[in-house]
Amino acid sequence: MLERSMPRVLPVDPESPSPAALEEAASVLARGGLVAFPTETVYGLGARGLHADEVAKIYRAKGRPSTHPLILHVTGSAMARGLARGWPEAAAKLAEAFWPGPLTLVVPRGGSVPDAVTGGGDTVGLRCPSHPVALALLDAVGEPLAAPSANAHTHVSPTSAAHVVRSLGDACDLVLDGGTCAHGIESTVVDVSGAEPRVLRPGALDLEALRRVLPAVQVASAALADDAVVRAAPGMAARHYAPRTRVILADDLEAELAVACASGLRVATLVWSEDGKRVVRGLADRVAVVAELPFDPKAYARALFAELHRVDAAGVGLVVVEQVPDTPGFWAVRDRLARAARPA
Ligand code: TXA
Ligand code: MG
Repeated sequence: MLERSMPRVLPVDPESPSPAALEEAASVLARGGLVAFPTETVYGLGARGLHADEVAKIYRAKGRPSTHPLILHVTGSAMARGLARGWPEAAAKLAEAFWPGPLTLVVPRGGSVPDAVTGGGDTVGLRCPSHPVALALLDAVGEPLAAPSANAHTHVSPTSAAHVVRSLGDACDLVLDGGTCAHGIESTVVDVSGAEPRVLRPGALDLEALRRVLPAVQVASAALADDAVVRAAPGMAARHYAPRTRVILADDLEAELAVACASGLRVATLVWSEDGKRVVRGLADRVAVVAELPFDPKAYARALFAELHRVDAAGVGLVVVEQVPDTPGFWAVRDRLARAARPA
Protein backbone atom coordinates (compact mmCIF):
# COMPACT_ATOMS: atom_id res chain seq x y z
CA MET A 1 0.00 0.00 0.00
CA LEU A 2 1.07 3.57 -0.68
CA GLU A 3 2.73 5.26 2.28
CA ARG A 4 1.41 8.76 2.74
CA SER A 5 2.59 11.74 4.75
CA MET A 6 0.31 12.99 7.48
CA PRO A 7 -1.96 15.98 7.10
CA ARG A 8 -2.52 18.18 10.14
CA VAL A 9 -5.19 16.55 12.34
CA LEU A 10 -7.04 18.86 14.72
CA PRO A 11 -9.25 17.23 17.38
CA VAL A 12 -12.56 19.02 17.93
CA ASP A 13 -15.45 18.54 20.33
CA PRO A 14 -18.10 16.95 18.07
CA GLU A 15 -20.94 18.68 19.89
CA SER A 16 -19.35 22.06 20.32
CA PRO A 17 -16.19 22.69 18.29
CA SER A 18 -13.94 25.47 19.58
CA PRO A 19 -13.96 28.82 17.76
CA ALA A 20 -10.17 28.56 17.39
CA ALA A 21 -10.39 25.25 15.50
CA LEU A 22 -13.18 26.56 13.27
CA GLU A 23 -11.23 29.72 12.55
CA GLU A 24 -8.17 27.71 11.57
CA ALA A 25 -10.22 25.46 9.28
CA ALA A 26 -11.99 28.45 7.70
CA SER A 27 -8.69 30.17 7.04
CA VAL A 28 -7.22 27.07 5.36
CA LEU A 29 -10.32 27.04 3.11
CA ALA A 30 -10.07 30.80 2.47
CA ARG A 31 -6.49 30.29 1.29
CA GLY A 32 -7.78 27.71 -1.19
CA GLY A 33 -6.90 24.60 0.84
CA LEU A 34 -8.82 21.37 1.45
CA VAL A 35 -10.30 20.55 4.86
CA ALA A 36 -11.77 17.18 5.80
CA PHE A 37 -14.57 17.43 8.34
CA PRO A 38 -17.04 15.09 10.04
CA THR A 39 -20.68 14.94 9.02
CA GLU A 40 -23.41 12.73 10.47
CA THR A 41 -22.99 10.37 7.46
CA VAL A 42 -19.28 10.12 6.58
CA TYR A 43 -16.32 12.51 6.54
CA GLY A 44 -16.35 15.07 3.72
CA LEU A 45 -13.41 16.58 1.85
CA GLY A 46 -14.28 20.25 1.63
CA ALA A 47 -13.31 23.18 -0.57
CA ARG A 48 -15.12 26.46 -1.15
CA GLY A 49 -17.77 25.42 -3.64
CA LEU A 50 -18.11 28.58 -5.69
CA HIS A 51 -14.40 28.75 -6.56
CA ALA A 52 -13.68 26.51 -9.54
CA ASP A 53 -9.91 26.33 -9.01
CA GLU A 54 -10.36 25.27 -5.38
CA VAL A 55 -12.98 22.68 -6.28
CA ALA A 56 -10.56 21.29 -8.89
CA LYS A 57 -8.20 20.40 -6.05
CA ILE A 58 -10.80 18.00 -4.64
CA TYR A 59 -10.82 16.03 -7.89
CA ARG A 60 -7.03 15.88 -7.89
CA ALA A 61 -6.83 14.81 -4.24
CA LYS A 62 -9.34 11.99 -4.76
CA GLY A 63 -8.27 10.98 -8.26
CA ARG A 64 -11.94 11.40 -9.21
CA PRO A 65 -13.04 11.92 -12.84
CA SER A 66 -14.06 15.56 -13.28
CA THR A 67 -17.39 14.54 -14.82
CA HIS A 68 -18.64 13.16 -11.46
CA PRO A 69 -20.66 15.93 -9.81
CA LEU A 70 -19.99 17.05 -6.24
CA ILE A 71 -22.48 17.94 -3.52
CA LEU A 72 -22.60 21.50 -2.20
CA HIS A 73 -23.11 21.62 1.56
CA VAL A 74 -25.23 24.51 2.81
CA THR A 75 -26.38 26.04 6.09
CA GLY A 76 -30.05 25.57 5.20
CA SER A 77 -32.81 26.19 2.66
CA ALA A 78 -32.05 29.89 2.27
CA MET A 79 -28.49 29.26 1.09
CA ALA A 80 -29.69 26.30 -0.98
CA ARG A 81 -32.28 28.34 -2.87
CA GLY A 82 -29.59 30.83 -3.85
CA LEU A 83 -27.75 28.01 -5.63
CA ALA A 84 -30.77 26.63 -7.50
CA ARG A 85 -32.71 27.81 -10.52
CA GLY A 86 -36.19 27.62 -9.05
CA TRP A 87 -37.05 25.58 -5.98
CA PRO A 88 -39.36 22.66 -6.83
CA GLU A 89 -42.19 21.95 -4.42
CA ALA A 90 -40.71 18.50 -3.77
CA ALA A 91 -37.45 20.15 -2.71
CA ALA A 92 -39.29 22.46 -0.33
CA LYS A 93 -41.15 19.56 1.27
CA LEU A 94 -38.12 17.32 1.63
CA ALA A 95 -35.85 20.08 2.92
CA GLU A 96 -38.49 21.09 5.45
CA ALA A 97 -38.84 17.51 6.66
CA PHE A 98 -35.24 16.26 6.60
CA TRP A 99 -32.78 19.16 6.73
CA PRO A 100 -30.46 19.38 8.46
CA GLY A 101 -29.84 15.69 7.84
CA PRO A 102 -28.64 12.87 5.57
CA LEU A 103 -30.52 13.89 2.41
CA THR A 104 -29.02 15.35 -0.79
CA LEU A 105 -31.40 17.11 -3.18
CA VAL A 106 -30.57 17.34 -6.87
CA VAL A 107 -32.19 20.53 -8.21
CA PRO A 108 -31.87 22.74 -11.32
CA ARG A 109 -28.53 24.49 -11.11
CA GLY A 110 -28.33 28.21 -10.42
CA GLY A 111 -26.05 30.64 -12.25
CA SER A 112 -23.44 30.98 -9.49
CA VAL A 113 -22.53 27.27 -9.41
CA PRO A 114 -19.37 26.52 -11.39
CA ASP A 115 -19.07 23.69 -13.92
CA ALA A 116 -16.37 22.24 -11.68
CA VAL A 117 -19.09 21.28 -9.15
CA THR A 118 -21.71 19.89 -11.51
CA GLY A 119 -19.43 18.14 -13.97
CA GLY A 120 -20.93 20.50 -16.55
CA GLY A 121 -24.49 19.25 -15.98
CA ASP A 122 -27.53 21.48 -15.47
CA THR A 123 -28.41 20.22 -11.99
CA VAL A 124 -26.67 20.56 -8.65
CA GLY A 125 -26.72 18.36 -5.53
CA LEU A 126 -27.33 20.22 -2.25
CA ARG A 127 -27.23 18.99 1.33
CA CYS A 128 -27.56 20.66 4.73
CA PRO A 129 -25.71 18.36 7.16
CA SER A 130 -26.79 18.06 10.80
CA HIS A 131 -23.37 17.45 12.36
CA PRO A 132 -22.53 20.40 14.66
CA VAL A 133 -18.95 20.58 13.33
CA ALA A 134 -20.08 20.65 9.69
CA LEU A 135 -22.71 23.29 10.41
CA ALA A 136 -20.33 25.43 12.46
CA LEU A 137 -17.69 25.21 9.72
CA LEU A 138 -20.25 26.28 7.09
CA ASP A 139 -21.20 29.20 9.32
CA ALA A 140 -17.57 30.19 9.81
CA VAL A 141 -16.90 30.07 6.04
CA GLY A 142 -20.17 31.79 5.17
CA GLU A 143 -20.50 30.12 1.78
CA PRO A 144 -21.25 26.63 0.45
CA LEU A 145 -18.63 23.91 0.68
CA ALA A 146 -18.22 21.33 -2.05
CA ALA A 147 -17.52 18.06 -0.27
CA PRO A 148 -17.48 14.50 -1.53
CA SER A 149 -16.67 11.68 0.84
CA ALA A 150 -13.04 12.12 1.99
CA ASN A 151 -11.63 8.97 0.39
CA ALA A 152 -9.67 8.16 -2.74
CA HIS A 153 -12.00 7.62 -5.72
CA THR A 154 -13.96 4.30 -5.63
CA HIS A 155 -12.73 3.42 -2.15
CA VAL A 156 -14.73 3.00 1.03
CA SER A 157 -15.97 6.23 2.61
CA PRO A 158 -14.29 7.30 5.85
CA THR A 159 -16.24 7.19 9.10
CA SER A 160 -13.35 8.41 11.26
CA ALA A 161 -10.45 10.86 10.92
CA ALA A 162 -8.00 7.94 10.87
CA HIS A 163 -9.74 6.58 7.75
CA VAL A 164 -9.31 9.97 6.03
CA VAL A 165 -5.62 10.05 6.84
CA ARG A 166 -5.12 6.50 5.56
CA SER A 167 -6.96 7.16 2.31
CA LEU A 168 -5.84 10.69 1.43
CA GLY A 169 -2.71 11.41 3.47
CA ASP A 170 -1.51 14.98 2.99
CA ALA A 171 -3.56 15.37 -0.20
CA CYS A 172 -5.80 17.27 2.23
CA ASP A 173 -4.40 20.14 4.29
CA LEU A 174 -6.32 19.72 7.53
CA VAL A 175 -8.57 17.09 9.11
CA LEU A 176 -11.04 18.13 11.80
CA ASP A 177 -11.27 15.05 14.00
CA GLY A 178 -14.74 14.94 15.54
CA GLY A 179 -14.80 11.22 16.25
CA THR A 180 -16.87 8.61 14.45
CA CYS A 181 -19.89 9.36 12.24
CA ALA A 182 -23.37 8.59 13.60
CA HIS A 183 -24.85 7.04 10.41
CA GLY A 184 -21.63 5.67 8.92
CA ILE A 185 -23.16 5.52 5.41
CA GLU A 186 -23.66 8.30 2.87
CA SER A 187 -26.72 10.49 2.40
CA THR A 188 -29.71 9.45 0.32
CA VAL A 189 -29.64 11.34 -3.00
CA VAL A 190 -33.03 12.37 -4.45
CA ASP A 191 -33.40 14.06 -7.82
CA VAL A 192 -36.25 16.57 -7.67
CA SER A 193 -35.26 18.42 -10.84
CA GLY A 194 -37.61 16.49 -13.14
CA ALA A 195 -41.33 15.76 -13.28
CA GLU A 196 -41.03 12.82 -10.85
CA PRO A 197 -38.83 12.73 -7.77
CA ARG A 198 -36.35 9.84 -7.99
CA VAL A 199 -33.86 8.29 -5.61
CA LEU A 200 -30.43 8.23 -7.29
CA ARG A 201 -28.56 6.70 -4.34
CA PRO A 202 -30.03 4.82 -1.36
CA GLY A 203 -28.51 6.13 1.85
CA ALA A 204 -28.87 6.96 5.52
CA LEU A 205 -32.38 8.33 5.08
CA ASP A 206 -34.87 5.47 4.57
CA LEU A 207 -37.24 5.15 1.63
CA GLU A 208 -40.16 4.80 4.05
CA ALA A 209 -39.34 8.16 5.60
CA LEU A 210 -39.09 9.79 2.16
CA ARG A 211 -42.41 8.30 1.08
CA ARG A 212 -44.17 9.58 4.17
CA VAL A 213 -43.42 13.10 2.91
CA LEU A 214 -43.43 12.43 -0.84
CA PRO A 215 -45.46 9.29 -1.63
CA ALA A 216 -44.65 9.61 -5.36
CA VAL A 217 -40.89 9.20 -4.97
CA GLN A 218 -39.47 6.53 -7.30
CA VAL A 219 -36.25 4.59 -7.06
CA ALA A 220 -34.35 4.90 -10.34
CA SER A 221 -33.41 1.38 -11.39
CA ALA A 222 -29.83 2.51 -11.96
CA ALA A 223 -29.72 3.49 -8.28
CA LEU A 224 -29.88 -0.14 -7.21
CA ALA A 225 -26.53 -1.83 -7.46
CA ASP A 226 -27.98 -5.32 -7.48
CA ASP A 227 -30.44 -4.50 -10.26
CA ALA A 228 -30.04 -6.69 -13.36
CA VAL A 229 -30.37 -3.63 -15.61
CA VAL A 230 -27.31 -2.12 -14.00
CA ARG A 231 -25.28 -5.26 -14.40
CA ALA A 232 -26.24 -5.35 -18.09
CA ALA A 233 -25.00 -1.80 -18.67
CA PRO A 234 -21.21 -1.78 -18.46
CA GLY A 235 -20.90 1.98 -17.96
CA MET A 236 -23.10 1.84 -14.88
CA ALA A 237 -21.32 -1.12 -13.36
CA ALA A 238 -18.29 0.82 -12.17
CA ARG A 239 -16.91 -0.64 -8.97
CA HIS A 240 -17.51 1.81 -6.18
CA TYR A 241 -17.45 2.00 -2.41
CA ALA A 242 -14.98 -0.89 -2.48
CA PRO A 243 -12.19 -1.82 -0.12
CA ARG A 244 -8.84 -2.72 -1.70
CA THR A 245 -9.40 -6.30 -0.57
CA ARG A 246 -11.46 -8.49 -2.90
CA VAL A 247 -15.04 -8.88 -1.62
CA ILE A 248 -17.14 -12.04 -1.98
CA LEU A 249 -20.78 -11.42 -1.11
CA ALA A 250 -22.11 -14.73 0.20
CA ASP A 251 -25.72 -15.91 0.14
CA ASP A 252 -24.34 -19.24 1.33
CA LEU A 253 -21.66 -18.26 3.84
CA GLU A 254 -20.60 -21.78 4.70
CA ALA A 255 -19.97 -22.73 1.05
CA GLU A 256 -18.17 -19.48 0.14
CA LEU A 257 -15.98 -19.63 3.23
CA ALA A 258 -15.00 -23.21 2.47
CA VAL A 259 -13.91 -22.18 -1.05
CA ALA A 260 -12.09 -19.12 0.30
CA CYS A 261 -10.23 -21.10 2.96
CA ALA A 262 -9.19 -23.68 0.37
CA SER A 263 -7.72 -20.94 -1.84
CA GLY A 264 -4.58 -20.59 0.25
CA LEU A 265 -5.21 -16.85 0.72
CA ARG A 266 -5.58 -15.26 4.16
CA VAL A 267 -9.31 -14.79 4.62
CA ALA A 268 -11.45 -12.27 6.50
CA THR A 269 -15.18 -12.52 7.07
CA LEU A 270 -18.02 -10.21 8.08
CA VAL A 271 -21.03 -11.95 9.62
CA TRP A 272 -24.22 -10.79 11.33
CA SER A 273 -26.53 -13.79 11.82
CA GLU A 274 -26.38 -16.40 14.57
CA ASP A 275 -25.99 -19.00 11.86
CA GLY A 276 -23.12 -17.03 10.30
CA LYS A 277 -21.38 -16.75 13.66
CA ARG A 278 -21.77 -20.50 14.19
CA VAL A 279 -20.22 -21.24 10.77
CA VAL A 280 -17.27 -18.99 11.56
CA ARG A 281 -16.70 -20.56 14.98
CA GLY A 282 -16.36 -23.90 13.20
CA LEU A 283 -13.57 -22.43 11.05
CA ALA A 284 -11.92 -20.34 13.76
CA ASP A 285 -8.33 -21.34 13.06
CA ARG A 286 -8.66 -20.87 9.29
CA VAL A 287 -10.10 -17.35 9.16
CA ALA A 288 -7.62 -14.55 9.92
CA VAL A 289 -10.07 -11.70 10.66
CA VAL A 290 -13.62 -12.14 11.94
CA ALA A 291 -15.97 -9.18 12.29
CA GLU A 292 -19.32 -9.79 13.95
CA LEU A 293 -21.69 -7.02 12.89
CA PRO A 294 -24.91 -6.07 14.66
CA PHE A 295 -28.25 -7.37 13.35
CA ASP A 296 -29.94 -3.97 13.58
CA PRO A 297 -29.70 -2.27 10.14
CA LYS A 298 -28.75 1.16 11.52
CA ALA A 299 -26.09 -0.30 13.78
CA TYR A 300 -24.85 -2.49 10.95
CA ALA A 301 -24.51 0.53 8.64
CA ARG A 302 -22.68 2.48 11.33
CA ALA A 303 -20.09 -0.28 11.70
CA LEU A 304 -19.70 -1.56 8.13
CA PHE A 305 -17.19 0.85 6.60
CA ALA A 306 -14.97 0.76 9.68
CA GLU A 307 -14.85 -3.04 9.41
CA LEU A 308 -13.96 -2.83 5.71
CA HIS A 309 -11.18 -0.38 6.54
CA ARG A 310 -9.98 -2.81 9.24
CA VAL A 311 -9.97 -5.66 6.73
CA ASP A 312 -7.88 -3.56 4.33
CA ALA A 313 -5.42 -2.71 7.08
CA ALA A 314 -5.07 -6.40 8.01
CA GLY A 315 -3.70 -7.22 4.55
CA VAL A 316 -5.83 -10.30 3.87
CA GLY A 317 -6.33 -11.78 0.40
CA LEU A 318 -10.11 -11.69 0.38
CA VAL A 319 -13.10 -10.97 2.55
CA VAL A 320 -16.27 -13.05 2.55
CA VAL A 321 -19.27 -10.93 3.56
CA GLU A 322 -22.47 -12.61 4.68
CA GLN A 323 -25.35 -11.15 2.64
CA VAL A 324 -27.80 -9.07 4.70
CA PRO A 325 -31.60 -9.46 4.60
CA ASP A 326 -33.54 -7.93 1.70
CA THR A 327 -35.58 -5.68 3.98
CA PRO A 328 -36.18 -1.91 3.68
CA GLY A 329 -33.88 -1.12 6.60
CA PHE A 330 -30.89 -2.62 4.80
CA TRP A 331 -31.46 -0.88 1.42
CA ALA A 332 -28.35 1.28 1.54
CA VAL A 333 -26.15 -1.45 3.04
CA ARG A 334 -27.21 -3.93 0.33
CA ASP A 335 -26.39 -1.33 -2.30
CA ARG A 336 -22.89 -0.69 -0.92
CA LEU A 337 -22.16 -4.40 -0.48
CA ALA A 338 -23.26 -5.17 -4.06
CA ARG A 339 -21.02 -2.40 -5.39
CA ALA A 340 -18.08 -3.48 -3.26
CA ALA A 341 -18.37 -7.06 -4.53
CA ARG A 342 -18.29 -6.14 -8.22
CA PRO A 343 -15.22 -7.28 -10.11
CA ALA A 344 -12.69 -4.46 -10.58
O1 TXA B 1 -23.30 11.73 2.89
C1 TXA B 1 -22.84 12.28 1.90
O2 TXA B 1 -23.54 12.56 0.91
C2 TXA B 1 -21.34 12.59 1.88
C3 TXA B 1 -21.08 13.67 2.94
C4 TXA B 1 -19.65 14.13 2.95
O3 TXA B 1 -21.95 14.75 2.75
N1 TXA B 1 -20.92 13.02 0.59
C5 TXA B 1 -20.84 12.16 -0.46
O4 TXA B 1 -20.39 12.75 -1.63
O5 TXA B 1 -21.11 10.99 -0.38
P1 TXA B 1 -19.91 11.91 -2.88
O6 TXA B 1 -19.41 12.92 -3.86
O7 TXA B 1 -18.99 10.85 -2.46
O8 TXA B 1 -21.25 11.31 -3.46
C6 TXA B 1 -22.22 12.19 -4.00
C7 TXA B 1 -23.21 11.44 -4.84
C8 TXA B 1 -22.54 10.82 -6.04
O9 TXA B 1 -23.14 9.55 -6.27
C9 TXA B 1 -22.90 11.80 -7.15
O10 TXA B 1 -22.91 11.19 -8.41
C10 TXA B 1 -24.28 12.28 -6.71
O11 TXA B 1 -24.19 12.34 -5.32
N2 TXA B 1 -24.55 13.62 -7.25
C11 TXA B 1 -24.03 14.80 -6.85
N3 TXA B 1 -24.49 15.81 -7.61
C12 TXA B 1 -25.33 15.26 -8.51
C13 TXA B 1 -26.11 15.77 -9.59
N4 TXA B 1 -26.12 17.07 -9.90
N5 TXA B 1 -26.83 14.90 -10.31
C14 TXA B 1 -26.81 13.58 -10.02
N6 TXA B 1 -26.11 13.04 -9.02
C15 TXA B 1 -25.37 13.86 -8.28
MG1 MG C 1 -18.02 9.02 -2.30
